[in-house]
Amino acid sequence: MLAGGCVRRSAVDRNSFSNSRAQISLLAQSSTFDIFPRMSISQVSSTSVESLLKEDRIFPPHTAQADALGGANVESLEQYHALHARSVADPSGFWGEIAQDFEWFKPWTSVLEWNCPDAKWFVGAQTNVCFNAIDRHVLEGHANDVGLIWEGEPQASGMPEVRHLAYGELQDEVSRFANALKALGVKKGEIVTLYMGMVPELPIAMLACARIGAAHSVIFGGFPAPSIVDRVLDAKSRVIVTCDGAWRRGSVVPLKKNVDEAMQSLVAQGHAIEHCVVLKRTATPIEWNAARDHWWHDVIAKESSECPCEAVDAEDLLFVLYTSGSTGKPKGIRHTSGGYMVYTAYTARMTFNLKPNANHVFWCTADIGWVTGHSYIVYGLLPNRVPTLMYEGAPNFPAEDRFWEIVARHRVTHFYTAPTAIRAFMKWGESHPKKHDLSSLKLLGTVGEPINPEAWIWYHEQIGASRCPIVDTFWQTETGGHVITPLPCATPTVPGSCTLPFFGIDAAIVDETGNELPPNTGGLLVIRKPWPSMLRGIHGDRQRFIDTYWSRIAGMYLAGDGARRDERGYFWIMGRIDDVINVSGHRLGTMEVESALVSHPAVVEAAVVGMPHEIKGTGIAAFVTLSLQATASEALKAELREHVSSVLGAIARPDMLRFTAALPKTRSGKIMRRLLRDVAAGKESTQDTSTLDDFGALAALRGNDE
Ligand code: WT7
Repeated sequence: MLAGGCVRRSAVDRNSFSNSRAQISLLAQSSTFDIFPRMSISQVSSTSVESLLKEDRIFPPHTAQADALGGANVESLEQYHALHARSVADPSGFWGEIAQDFEWFKPWTSVLEWNCPDAKWFVGAQTNVCFNAIDRHVLEGHANDVGLIWEGEPQASGMPEVRHLAYGELQDEVSRFANALKALGVKKGEIVTLYMGMVPELPIAMLACARIGAAHSVIFGGFPAPSIVDRVLDAKSRVIVTCDGAWRRGSVVPLKKNVDEAMQSLVAQGHAIEHCVVLKRTATPIEWNAARDHWWHDVIAKESSECPCEAVDAEDLLFVLYTSGSTGKPKGIRHTSGGYMVYTAYTARMTFNLKPNANHVFWCTADIGWVTGHSYIVYGLLPNRVPTLMYEGAPNFPAEDRFWEIVARHRVTHFYTAPTAIRAFMKWGESHPKKHDLSSLKLLGTVGEPINPEAWIWYHEQIGASRCPIVDTFWQTETGGHVITPLPCATPTVPGSCTLPFFGIDAAIVDETGNELPPNTGGLLVIRKPWPSMLRGIHGDRQRFIDTYWSRIAGMYLAGDGARRDERGYFWIMGRIDDVINVSGHRLGTMEVESALVSHPAVVEAAVVGMPHEIKGTGIAAFVTLSLQATASEALKAELREHVSSVLGAIARPDMLRFTAALPKTRSGKIMRRLLRDVAAGKESTQDTSTLDDFGALAALRGNDE
C-alpha cells in the first residue's frame, strides 16, 4: 500500500482515512476558509466568505403561503419540535402510524429491528411500491388524473412534444413493460440495468421492475461506456434497457452505441448481457444484434396490460444506485421497498407541503440517474398523487429561459433544483425569468450542495418573487430522502442553512469519540438512530459498508460531511471530510479522477483536489506528473482532460490541469492535499509545511502556470 494521497500507476490503494482525519481536525479549527471550504461565491457576487459566517437574515415561515399550498401540513415550529421529539423518542410508534397511509398486502409484526448497522423496517410486511405509486390511485377513482407530465427537449415546430400520463395510462404502460420483462426471463430479485435518457419510459421501466419484484440499477445517461461496464458487472445484470439516443442541447447522446461498446468489453470480461431492450427516441442509426437486441415497441406490442403487482417483502431490494466514494470503485447503495417508500413519500409530503386535489404540479429538475430523481421525481412523488413533471433536456436549450417557459406552460407550483443551476441562472441574468409568468410558483427547493446566501436571495427574489418559501434539503444517496430540511410553513429559514432534522432523524455534530460538540464548533455530522430509508448496505461489499459509515464512531451513521450547528440548533454543512468532492451537486471521488488520469500512458502520478468554481461550487484541479517519454504541452493537457471525460463522463473533466515534476509530500510520503487545494485556489497556504519533504515541489507548483 502506498501511504501518499495520490495515485501512481499500478498502485492505486492509499490511506485516505488518515487524510480525512487530518482534514477534519483542521476543519474544527475553523478558519474562515475552513467553514465553507468549497464556496466560491465571489465571482458571481461580491459577498465574501466572512458574510456567510455572519449570515443572520431570518425569513419567517411562510404562514401566508399555507393557504396557497392548500393548508399547512405542519403549522408551526412548536408543532415541528413536538413531533420531532416524539419521532425520535419512539420511532416505531411514529413510523408505524405514518405507514398506515400506505397499502400493505400483509401487515408487519414489528416496525423496526435494529442491530447496528443492520436495520429492518416493517418486519414481515409485504407490499409493492408500484401498487402504492399507481394502482392505488386507479382503484380509488383517479385513473384519469395526471400523474406524470413530460416535456421533450426538441422544439422543431416551435412547440415541444408534451405528454400527460394519467395514472390509468401509467398502469397500462408499466404493466405491459413488466410483462415484457417477465417474457425476457427477468425474475424476482434480479437487478435490471437501465441506461436511458429522461423519457417517460425510464420511470415506467423502474416501476415495471418494482411491479414484478425485480430491482433496478439506473445509470446516468451522461456516463460513458466504462461506467456501464463496472456497474453491470457489479450488479450482474443480464438485461439492460436503453434508448437509441438521448436529446441533449440539440444533439444526440449515442446511448445504444455506448451500451454496444460496454457489452463488447463485458463479453471480454466473461459477462454476457442476454437482452438489450432499446427505446426508439432519436431515430439515430444504430448497430443491431438480432439475437440480443429488442425494440421496446416490439416487446410491449405482444403484451397484455394486465400484470398483477407481486407481493414483495418490505426488506426486498427495490434498487441499487451507484455513487462515488473515496476509492476508485463506485459503491452500489442498496435501498429496500417498504422503508424507502414510506420515507420518501412522507418527506416529499412534509418538506414540499404536498396535497392531492390542490392543483399542485411538482417539478424536480434532477436527472433520474441520480438519487434526487429516484426519490423526488418518481418514488416519493407518485404515492402522494401530485403530478410530477419531467423535462428531457438542458436548461439553456434553445435559450436560457427554457426552465421558466416550462414553469409557465405547465403552471408549475413546486420547483426543486440545485445551487449550481441557480448560480448559472444568476449568471445568465434576470431578463430570462422576467420574460415568463412565474405566478404559479408556491414553493422552491434546493439540494445537492451548500447554497451560498447570494444565490439563495436571488432565487427567493427573482424566481420566488419574495413570496415562496425555500427549502434547502440536505440528504444523500445513502439516506434515501431528506434528513435535514426546513418545513415550509413551520421553520424560519436562514440562507445557507439546511436548518433542522426531519422527523425520526437524530442528527448531531460530534467529535472523533462521538461526543456532541457545543454550538458553532465544526465536527462530524452523524445520525444516531436508524430511519426507514437508510441504506441497507453496499452491494456485494459488506466490509466497505461497515468501514465507510459505521466504524469511525461506534453505533452512529457517519455522513461524511463536516458541519456545525448554531445556537438555534440549525445545521450548516461545511463540506465533505473524505476524498469526495461535490461538483455541480454531483459526487465524485478524487481517486476516480486520479485513476482515470494514470490510466493514460503519459501519466506517472496524479493528485486531484477540489477548487473553488464560480458555477459548479467545486471544480476539479488535477496535478499531474508525466512519464519521461512524454512532453508537456497544451495539446497533451487537452488530451488528458478528454481522456478523463471518456472514462468517467463530462462531469469529471478537470477544470484545471497542471504538470508538475513532483507532488508535495510529507516525509512519510503522504501527499499534502490541503496545500494543493491552496495552490488550486490561488491562495497563500495557511498550512503548516514543517513536514513537507521538498519545498522545491511547492515553489515549482506556485510558479507553474495553468
Ligand atoms: C452529498 C450527497 C441528495 C441528493 C443530491 C446529492 C452534499 C446534498 C446538500 C445541502 C449542503 C448538501 C453533501 C452530501 N449535499 N445536499 N442541502 N446542503 N450539502 O446526493 O450525490 O449522494 O451527495 O451532497 O456533501 O454528503 P449525493
